[in-house]
Amino acid sequence: MDYFRSDLKQKKPVNINVPQKKLKMGLNESTLNPMEIVQKHFLEKMEKVPLNRYFNGITDELRTKLAEYAEVAPDCLAFGNGADEMLYYIFTAVRENNDSFAVSLAPSYFDYRSYSGAVGLGIKFLSLQPDFDFSAADFLKLADSPNCKLVILCNPNNPTGNLLDEKKIIKVIESSNSLVLIDETYFEFSGKTFTDQIGKYPNLIIVRSFSKAFSAAGLRFGYVISHSENIRELEKVMTIFHLNLMTQAMVTTILKNKAIFLEHNRKVIEQKQFVFEELNKMESISVHPSATNFLTFSLGNRTEDLFNFMSENDIAIRPVWHHPVLKEHVRVTISGEEEENRLFLEKVKEFILNST
Ligand SMILES: Cc1ncc(COP(=O)(O)O)c(C=O)c1O
Repeated sequence: MDYFRSDLKQKKPVNINVPQKKLKMGLNESTLNPMEIVQKHFLEKMEKVPLNRYFNGITDELRTKLAEYAEVAPDCLAFGNGADEMLYYIFTAVRENNDSFAVSLAPSYFDYRSYSGAVGLGIKFLSLQPDFDFSAADFLKLADSPNCKLVILCNPNNPTGNLLDEKKIIKVIESSNSLVLIDETYFEFSGKTFTDQIGKYPNLIIVRSFSKAFSAAGLRFGYVISHSENIRELEKVMTIFHLNLMTQAMVTTILKNKAIFLEHNRKVIEQKQFVFEELNKMESISVHPSATNFLTFSLGNRTEDLFNFMSENDIAIRPVWHHPVLKEHVRVTISGEEEENRLFLEKVKEFILNST
């Protein structure tokens, strides 16, 4: 059957291989269900949103509220169904021809490969150094081609958890002829953003998500911040009514109640520090500092057994050992639930005790 683009034959189907367990510590989700928190406000809002109509004032309200939150002008924003969809749109909009490619660091967010492949945009990777830093000169060399259409930096980086060196990021932005995408999906945990630079750098485009700090992974909402001219070009590849009005109403409601979510994040950050310190005390574990809501750590050649032990104990964590820089590493999501985190730590201790 040759109904589809020939390069799709080589592409693996998109598949999230995370087992469904009682303790969901594998996908960097939140334990807070926004529906339980903002249900009343959401339903009140929905009474004024006629679902039989294409247009409704809710889109303008959402744009205004989001602009306020992100501290940018409303026309510097585009939004859609999750950061993933925004990545997909960016990849679609920058691809010029079969030779076009993007560059990214590795290991980084897996789906850069997946979605660039989906739109026929090549992708090249520069490996991070063992300390998770990178050489800006080598990265720029990789991008030094008229066919390089996009430079991707995930900051903080998933799955290593670290913030990249700010001076190097600026150097990359200043020296690139292509668009530079900074993925700030974990911004609310790192507190570090480049949104204040969009006026200065016309090639800067930032992606953010509501899946982490706003507890809304299942809702699907993400947004892009860039110069308004970039936003106008990007919107040309988006279908006009792609974001349904219920999502828009929910996001507007979440933003109205944002203090609750941001307060919850403080707990997540506290808990992450607690779990980090506890893991750090365990001699056989090497755990990395993280500016996100997850921790990445290694138990040497017993890491895979630990992963299996966790699975058997109904705890899902994520294997991230596929890249040599993270050989024998797993990633665990840290929530604001102390009880959950303590149970996780107990199981790690139990495993270590029984496997030495
Ligand atoms: C770095 C990074 N970018 C993008 C995404 C996708 O986020 P969303 O759920 O908004 O599509 C994720 C999700 O885990 C991520 O870790």
